[in-house]
Amino acid sequence: MLRLVVLLVASFAALAAGQRGVDEVLKWQKVQYSSDVPSRILAADNGYIPVNNIPMGAVHYKNRVFVAVARRRWGIPSTLNVVNFSPPFPNTNLLLKPYPNFQLNELRADLQPDENRIVTVYRPRVDRCDRLWFVDTGMMEIPNNFTIVQRPSIWAIDLKTDKPIHRYEIPQKDVDSGYGLTSITLDVDPDNCEKVFVYISDLQTYRMVVYDYQNRKSWRFLHNYFFLNPLEGDYRIQGIPFSWDDGIFSIALGNPDPRTKFRTAYFHALSSNSEFTVSTEVLRNETAAQRHYHGNDFQLLGYRGANSQSSIHAFDADTGVVFFALIQQNAVSCWDSRKPFAPQNMAIVYKNDADIVYPNDLAIDNEGYVWFMTNSIIKLLYTRLNLEEYNFHVWRANINEVIKGTVCDPAVKANVNFVQRFATDGDSDRVTFLEFKDKYGPGGGPYGGWGIGDQKRLNKHN
Ligand SMILES: *[C@@H]1O[C@H](CO)[C@@H](O)[C@H](O)[C@H]1NC(C)=O
Ligand SMILES: *[C@@H]1O[C@H](CO)[C@@H](O)[C@H](O)[C@H]1NC(C)=O
Repeated sequence: MLRLVVLLVASFAALAAGQRGVDEVLKWQKVQYSSDVPSRILAADNGYIPVNNIPMGAVHYKNRVFVAVARRRWGIPSTLNVVNFSPPFPNTNLLLKPYPNFQLNELRADLQPDENRIVTVYRPRVDRCDRLWFVDTGMMEIPNNFTIVQRPSIWAIDLKTDKPIHRYEIPQKDVDSGYGLTSITLDVDPDNCEKVFVYISDLQTYRMVVYDYQNRKSWRFLHNYFFLNPLEGDYRIQGIPFSWDDGIFSIALGNPDPRTKFRTAYFHALSSNSEFTVSTEVLRNETAAQRHYHGNDFQLLGYRGANSQSSIHAFDADTGVVFFALIQQNAVSCWDSRKPFAPQNMAIVYKNDADIVYPNDLAIDNEGYVWFMTNSIIKLLYTRLNLEEYNFHVWRANINEVIKGTVCDPAVKANVNFVQRFATDGDSDRVTFLEFKDKYGPGGGPYGGWGIGDQKRLNKHN
């Protein structure tokens, strides 16, 4: 029996380590910072508490990986950081260097708003014009003591000079606070770096914020498809059962239509196995955002399969393949966007039950790799991290190699030629969508529901 277990573990390790096209680039037991963080900070009360430092996002740009550590506990000295990596892999326990410097990341002792500082960053993104974009949520999600320091803001840093070049404060009309603004998607004009639309998912109040960079204006969309599916919010990860109510979590953009230049935006809630679409023609239209009814502008694309709740997904412009980080399967999957959306037309490109505990971020770089990170956050939230183990990992997968021969390979035929809209009868977790039945949202929910609507209709409901 013991021999069998050893054999199984050994062959599993071999499979995980040797998987074609996948490199484990970085791993950490615990997050530690470079000497840019002054020792007075590390020594201060609540200045640096190792077990509370959990990376939430990682994005690659020219042998640098930007690592974000959200302030969800005390003791996080710097939220936006960078590491330089080099082969051989993995690079282990690299020190995080505050980016672009410590001053921008330092929390004010009086916790007063400061437009020259950032409080919490989740998932930064790099655009094709050498800029790093991110949202500063402006708050600390300390359990039982949420602390709003300042309004949420959108930032851009020039990666060639490492200087901040833009900051835009998101107004109250779009979101009450930065709580839930955990992913950002960049829609950069192929010919003009100044024409950028930024889409931000708000998992907490179920909105999408759109920012028009050129005109320095923002608006927000409300739609029922931004909500969780109430039947798909229960999880079991590493044997830990829990429920989450996170709504819209990730927005991935297809290639521009050759004629209209608009893109398809693919989006999903975290607690849902469904994928939806909307054209950026709709999202870029501020007037459309004010409508109370969106007709067929937002659409159900299909069903990803049971237990396929996805944190982040990303579209590869070269191959047209979408990659999904699957939090309940310790895996990354793919789907070729030219094929019908159905679980049979998807493939797992990487799975590792030992190390992929909560794949929390995923992004595609300009060099043909999909990058993904895991952060064991389930352990922070529900048990305790063991800082002797490797808790945080960053992988990169060569896209052409990992899709080759799978159903995601554009050269391979689809397995089925129909879209699967919902779970099938055989599945125990059948989805029953009630499209637009409850147009005015949850009303008195914990976050106040839509926050807008036809007052007369709302009153009638009472
Ligand atoms: C909550 O945080 C504030 C600082 O933002 C601190 O002054 C206060 O003592 C904290 N309260 C608790 C119960 O920890
Ligand atoms: C924006 O949306 C409104 C409302 O749907 C529509 O009437 C208008 O034509 C749209 N504008 C553009 C430029 O597409």
